[in-house]
Amino acid sequence: MSDKKMTPVLKWAGGKTQLLEQIKENMPTEYNRYYEPFIGGAAVLFGVLPLQAFINDVNEQLINLYTQLKNAVETVIEKINEMDAIPCDKELYYALREKYNHKISNRAFDEECAALMIWINKHCFNGLYRVNSKGLFNVPYNNKVNGKSINEENLIFISDYLRKTDIKITCLDFEKACENVEKGDFVYFDSPYVPKSTTASFTDYTMRGFTLNDHERLSALFKHLDKIGAKVMLSNNDVPLVRELYVGYKIQSVDVKRMINCNAKKRTEKEEGLAA
Ligand SMILES: C[S@@+](CC[C@H](N)C(=O)[O-])C[C@H]1O[C@@H](n2cnc3c(N)ncnc32)[C@H](O)[C@@H]1O
Repeated sequence: MSDKKMTPVLKWAGGKTQLLEQIKENMPTEYNRYYEPFIGGAAVLFGVLPLQAFINDVNEQLINLYTQLKNAVETVIEKINEMDAIPCDKELYYALREKYNHKISNRAFDEECAALMIWINKHCFNGLYRVNSKGLFNVPYNNKVNGKSINEENLIFISDYLRKTDIKITCLDFEKACENVEKGDFVYFDSPYVPKSTTASFTDYTMRGFTLNDHERLSALFKHLDKIGAKVMLSNNDVPLVRELYVGYKIQSVDVKRMINCNAKKRTEKEEGLAA
């Protein structure tokens, strides 16, 4: 498995590809089970490739995507290739976005929903994921002529990895997803971040957003897991609230380029990693 390189299928806000090496350097060298309760684009999972893991996210479409890649990768690839065969323009983008939203409304989480999620992520503005108050995807078209939406080999490697190892995939709130963490397990938390400025809102990956109360719950869970002997590590913005919530833990500040920010001036930010 380790000779096969896998990369995220989606462009995802907060994706950890550029910080992967630093994250890996700070991880424990030995642990029992790997937990990633905020899996997002899965850059860290695909960089580490644990053989026994619990991956989770509250985003149902994202969890459907990993489930379909695991169980029905051929169908997902076939459906994406069908969409890629039609030259993309504004009309096609909005028609497929409507189809995707229809599936979300009907909770039709199937192979086609997974294929649409990948195709739309490649054709929407800046690879953003944003939903409205009804939970419907509302990112506009990126106005580009696009080629292939996928690297088929990458999807097949991911599918093999998810099938041939012991990876449990859940769609729960992070606290629930960590209920069975035991001493010696390793948990990497990459939640939506505390905003950099007071004017910025909490990142909206889901209808609910991630509130101050969620950050307090996360900090309490981090401390609880540390106390029971689990190995814990977390990424967040380097802001006073985060330093306050994790006072006493080892904190490492790193520079990041935020490619999902459309303002080039705001693309370098300080991010921090925590380890206990
Ligand atoms: C910063 S992203 C993770 C990025 C990921 N590490 C990557 O490399 O792409 C945060 C993720 O947390 C998820 N999320 C938000 N609230 C959550 C909650 N209460 N429980 C579990 N997941 C949540 C979002 O859907 C999003 O995918």
